[in-house]
Amino acid sequence: MRGAGGSGAGASGPGPSGAAVTGAAAGLTRLAIVGIHGHGSSHVRHAQELVRRGDALLVAVADPRPAGDGELGAEVRHFASLPELLDAVTVDVVVLCTPIHTHFALTKLAMEAGVDVLLEKPPVTSVADFAALAAVIEATGRRCQVGFQSLGSETIGVVRDRIAAGAIGTVTGVSASGAWLRTRSYWTRAAWAGKRVLNGIEVVDGVVTNPLAHAVATALCLAGAQRADQIASIDLDQYRANDIACDDTSVVRVRTVAGLPITLGLTVCAPQRSEPFITVQGSSGRIVVFYTLDLVQVFQDGSPDPVTTSHGRRPLLDDLLMLRSGASAGLLADFADTEGFTLVLDAVRRASDPVPIPAAYVDWVGDGPDAHPVVQDVGTWIARAGAEHKTFAELGAPWARTTPVPAGTPGTAAVVVPDAPHPVSA
Ligand SMILES: NC(=O)c1ccc[n+]([C@@H]2O[C@H](COP(=O)([O-])OP(=O)(O)OC[C@H]3O[C@@H](n4cnc5c(N)ncnc54)[C@H](O)[C@@H]3O)[C@@H](O)[C@H]2O)c1
Repeated sequence: MRGAGGSGAGASGPGPSGAAVTGAAAGLTRLAIVGIHGHGSSHVRHAQELVRRGDALLVAVADPRPAGDGELGAEVRHFASLPELLDAVTVDVVVLCTPIHTHFALTKLAMEAGVDVLLEKPPVTSVADFAALAAVIEATGRRCQVGFQSLGSETIGVVRDRIAAGAIGTVTGVSASGAWLRTRSYWTRAAWAGKRVLNGIEVVDGVVTNPLAHAVATALCLAGAQRADQIASIDLDQYRANDIACDDTSVVRVRTVAGLPITLGLTVCAPQRSEPFITVQGSSGRIVVFYTLDLVQVFQDGSPDPVTTSHGRRPLLDDLLMLRSGASAGLLADFADTEGFTLVLDAVRRASDPVPIPAAYVDWVGDGPDAHPVVQDVGTWIARAGAEHKTFAELGAPWARTTPVPAGTPGTAAVVVPDAPHPVSA
């Protein structure tokens, strides 16, 4: 296999395509994208933009399904798999946008071929795989950026600055509110969608670990809890309205070793999509971050209006290219900084199955593949979970389990108790 080995700047060597040779001579980073449909199409578009700007070359893609007519230039070679691609083409950076359960093996393969990786989230499916991949990164000296694009937002630094300047007093907690909707077609688009395990391989594809994983990662980042040794406990309270194995409506409550609560209320069973947000709660105000919009709102006690500011973001692939060229000192979403997120994911992996929400509390809207469930009053329960740092069960949501979820710890298997939901009254 022929990965490029060292830094892309100035990397050389004959590539099978003329463009790759030209690019190598010009010192441009040679990109490949693995998984080009689904979310991968946005990576293809971004890579094409980098090519237009003269910042990189897109030399190859890998996907068992070829690209559509005219989607890629003739100079971009297509392979059915990453091993075939690495055997045939010299690349410097691979973007991996494949199903969750393929991440570990493909990243390892790329790195052992000398290639840096932008790996889509969630990076891996267990803490054991996290440790194993960290060892691969260490041994190969490669870089791994994880696709939590909200961590590329300038809002992260802005919020930290506001907190340090005392804008909201002492930080007392962090919460996240995520209310999206996903139709039936989302869960049927791929064999792995909504699965906990597929053909004996762990997938862990639920609302906490995939669609609203950015809320988890951003909240942990703003709370200073990106490393495992910063987390004291994780409580989970997980439900599902869809006919899937994973959760689609959950509360995650993390407590840091310093005692700070981080409570996330997440659902993809809302009546409509609203912008998710993180709230940093303070003794004299709060800061709200709309992480998909790069907006920050600072509410100070005694001030009638919040101060709202809009910020930029750096795309994570650009950030990886900057590090490779020496233009930056570190990655914005370094694999190492996803350890705390992976601890949450691992708790989800080990937890009991999510509790089905009784049909009496779920309204189905639309037909066929466009149909989607709406959990009654889910927005209210999510808002209360974050504000009060309580689970749905502790709040007494009518569809929640009756036994409160006990305090969990990252090191123990029993982070939730299986229990029947409340009986449904007529
Ligand atoms: N950062 C984000 O905002 C964001 C958004 C959506 C999805 N994602 C992540 O992107 C990844 C892919 O999600 P998706 O929803 O696009 O999945 P998908 O199943 O819809 O698409 C996956 C693509 O990978 C291809 N593929 C599957 N196995 C492959 C393999 N071994 N080698 C090469 N190609 C392979 C498939 O043919 C398909 O084109 C997941 O990790 C997901 O969590 C991230």
